Amino acid sequence: MPHEPGAHSSAPTPKTFTAAPALTGTVTVPGDKSISHRALMLSALAVGESRVEGLLEGEDVLATAAAMRAMGADIVRDDDGVWHIHGVGVGGLLQPEVALDMGNSGTSTRLLMGLLASHDLTATFIGDASLSKRPMGRVIDPLSTMGAEFTSAPGGRLPLTLRGICPAVPIEYRLPVASAQVKSAVLLAGLNTPGITRVVEPIATRDHSERMLRGFGAELTVEIDSDGARVISLVGEAELQPQHIVVPGDPSSAAFPMVAALLVPGSRVTIRNVGLNPTRAGLIDLLREMGGSIEIANPREVGGEPVGDLVVSASTLTGVEPDPDRAPSMIDEYPIAFVAAALAQGHSVFRGLEELRVKESDRLTTMATGLRLIGAQVEELEDGLIIDGTGGEPLAGGGPVATLLDHRIAMSFAVAGLVSRDGVTVDDMRPVATSFPGFLDLLRTMGATV
Ligand code: S3P
Repeated sequence: MPHEPGAHSSAPTPKTFTAAPALTGTVTVPGDKSISHRALMLSALAVGESRVEGLLEGEDVLATAAAMRAMGADIVRDDDGVWHIHGVGVGGLLQPEVALDMGNSGTSTRLLMGLLASHDLTATFIGDASLSKRPMGRVIDPLSTMGAEFTSAPGGRLPLTLRGICPAVPIEYRLPVASAQVKSAVLLAGLNTPGITRVVEPIATRDHSERMLRGFGAELTVEIDSDGARVISLVGEAELQPQHIVVPGDPSSAAFPMVAALLVPGSRVTIRNVGLNPTRAGLIDLLREMGGSIEIANPREVGGEPVGDLVVSASTLTGVEPDPDRAPSMIDEYPIAFVAAALAQGHSVFRGLEELRVKESDRLTTMATGLRLIGAQVEELEDGLIIDGTGGEPLAGGGPVATLLDHRIAMSFAVAGLVSRDGVTVDDMRPVATSFPGFLDLLRTMGATV
């Protein structure tokens, strides 16, 4: 069994990644993190037993499981890796006896704040050093309008105590920032709220909450208004029916072997069972525009989500200037996209990415600093990066690169090491356990010596 959250108490685990021979073979990546969180939360609110296959057993998702257990859901994993969840019914969550430890997980925190806001209970949220720096005001604002009350560390940060309210007041909320977490927090609060809760989304973000709420039987509609914004309406006091969910592989995790296979000369790798929801597939489009050879085999639907196998061949990449409106469809993939750009031919300009500054780390500064340290040409802007690629020449390498408790920074520089002259040392690989257990084994399966 994977360990429970809080594993960050051990000492940092540095690791050096060196140039790899051509990567080959067929690999699978763990279950989608966003879908896994939502599967546990909605199952815990359905009456009866839901089963979840392919759940991501990373620390972030286990933090959600522990929180739902602390509020009354019965959650067990059987020997075949299937998770069985007996829910308490919408409105039935119990007062947790202890603080909810969210570890490193912003998604657990923000979605659960929404879920609890319309329950008559008090809960305290705590987290690690990275999570305790992240802004929660973006969910506190709409949930306060619905009637919940909050006390928090300065700047709307953790530790934070929420006092929920039942019945809450339904609202119509226009997202001031393109965030699926904020959208989902409001919708989840709306589940136990009388009337219609509405979220207006000017730029589309991942729609797993909408798909899964419908799958569980909630009345939810999506319309496009005259400005092109998505208007999501949820009828409250919903009754959720237990489901059998099969979680597809996480495209955000597939991003690492995908870019590794594009960059290491002579590689050809198949990544099976990857989620291809269009609100998540932006990196594939971008890499193809850069000249990457990525084919989609066996397109199919799994658990209401499009899925396929990716066949990736080493390619000569060229620089790009992606439109900022595409950011939500690849928001977690920028760190590894920056690595691809650092080895591409010519100039790449990434702008409109202020949101990257409030992820697990400030991903603009962390990536710019690390990439420069290993020999890349990078200019940091207020809202993005300008990268001059090597045209396929390996980066010099070096380190240690500071990962600042950010899993995606650690994995991005691991991949950079596979195409470096002298190797890249990552200062701490522990954060990878939040989203990608088995990452090192996967690199070995493809032929890297790690
Ligand atoms: C997520 C939404 C995104 C993403 C995060 C997961 C989700 O965050 O970065 O990893 O599951 O809803 P934002 O809502 O802050 O963009």
